[in-house]
Amino acid sequence: MILPIIAVIACYLLGSVSFSVVLAKGLKGIDIRQHGSGNAGATNTLRVLGKGPAILVLALDVLKGIAAVWIGRWLGGSSEWVAAICGIAAIIGHNWPLYFRFRGGKGIATTIGVMATLAFFPAFYAGIIAILSIVFTRFVSLGSLIFVFLTPIFLLISGEVGAYFWASLVICLFAFWRHRTNIVKIIHGKENKLGSKGGTRI
Ligand code: G3P
Repeated sequence: MILPIIAVIACYLLGSVSFSVVLAKGLKGIDIRQHGSGNAGATNTLRVLGKGPAILVLALDVLKGIAAVWIGRWLGGSSEWVAAICGIAAIIGHNWPLYFRFRGGKGIATTIGVMATLAFFPAFYAGIIAILSIVFTRFVSLGSLIFVFLTPIFLLISGEVGAYFWASLVICLFAFWRHRTNIVKIIHGKENKLGSKGGTRI
C-alpha cells in the first residue's frame, strides 16, 4: 500500500512543476500569472512569450501527464486505479501547484498526456475533434472543453467503464471548473481567440 501512496504524492509534486511559470521567470523575469489570461499554461505562454516557449511548455506539460501515468503503473503494479489516480494527482498539481502558492493552470496539456497514456484511442478521437473545433472557432478553451467532454464518451463507446472512465469524468469536472470564466466569456461572445493578446482571468 505504501508504494501507491508514494506514487500519488510524487505525481502531485511532479504536476506542481509549473513550466510556464518557470520559463516566463527565466526568459523575461515576469510572473506569467500577472499577464494575459493569468493562466499558467501553454495558451497564455503563446500570448505572453510567443510560439517557441509555448510549444516547449505544451510539450513539457503533456510529458508531466505521461510520466505520472508511467509512475503509477511502475509503483502501482497492474492496478488501473493507481495509474488513473496518479494521472489525476499530476493534474491537481498542475492546477494547484505546491511550489507556486497553489495558483497554476487549467490542466489541459497535462490531461492530454494522462488520457493519451491511459486510453490512447478515445483520447485521440476526442483530440481530433477538439483540434478541428479550435481551427474553426479559434477558441482554445472551447477545444479544451470538447476534449475533456468527449474523452469519457469515447471511453464508454469503447466499452471501458472502469478506472479510466471514472478518472476521465473527474478530470472533465476539474476542467469545466477551471474554465468557468472562459465559459461565461464564450456565452457572451467575449472569449479571446487564438492569436489575440488578451485572455480570460481565472
Ligand atoms: O488550456 C487552457 C486553455 O483552454 C485556455 O487558456 O489562457 O485562454 O484561459 P486561456
